Amino acid sequence: MAPQISPSILSADFADLGADVARIASDADWVHVDVMDNHFVPNLTLGLPVVQALLKTSAIPLDCHLMIEDPDRWAPQYAEAGAGSVTIHAEAAGAPIRTLRAIRSAGARAGLGVNPATPVEGFADLLGEIDMLLLMTVEPGFGGQKFLDVVLPKVRRARELIRGRDLPVWLQVDGGVSAETIERCAEAGADVFVAGSAVYNADDPAEAVRRLRAQAQRATDAAGWAE
Ligand code: DX5
Ligand code: ZN
Repeated sequence: MAPQISPSILSADFADLGADVARIASDADWVHVDVMDNHFVPNLTLGLPVVQALLKTSAIPLDCHLMIEDPDRWAPQYAEAGAGSVTIHAEAAGAPIRTLRAIRSAGARAGLGVNPATPVEGFADLLGEIDMLLLMTVEPGFGGQKFLDVVLPKVRRARELIRGRDLPVWLQVDGGVSAETIERCAEAGADVFVAGSAVYNADDPAEAVRRLRAQAQRATDAAGWAE
């Protein structure tokens, strides 16, 4: 699959989200929406009502990343509302298989996210239940943090696990992804790239998306894991 770019609106203007989504909609594949509840992570952002409002105005699908402590209760509602993709955290889900299946039956892509220190190997048997694996490359909670290189070996191992099972699971990296780090992520095996500050702190967010995509494509072509 060609690399996909999912700009995070965590670094956008929260007083004018619709306009900031429109700025990247012609160039990005997804809009990454970070839902934080101040329990799973030490930050509070937005919830279902804002997602419902964004769904009415966004020209591209929403990639909802739920950093909340009770995803079993809330995740299916994001899918039912019309989100294109809903990711729950492995560390938070009490019944991940049931919740991932509920997301899929509501018509959304089901994502499973893991924090930097959470190993992926324990989730190998769940790969058939998911459409995307999200590897956090910062500790979740805030935009603008420094990319954690220590996660790159896990990106490689996750790509190997996915290849080994021959499943069409996308591999997303989230946190500190920028012009400086995106090539390392693509080379290691990521194919969906979340970028918040690297897109919305740029003078021209659409141009930033195009550049990130070109870099990811070059690094993927050079790496050869996608063959
Ligand atoms: C962090 C969020 C990320 C964040 C990325 O917990 O999940 O999506 O917005 O922001 P940057 O790209 O600035 O690290
Ligand atoms: Zn995120």
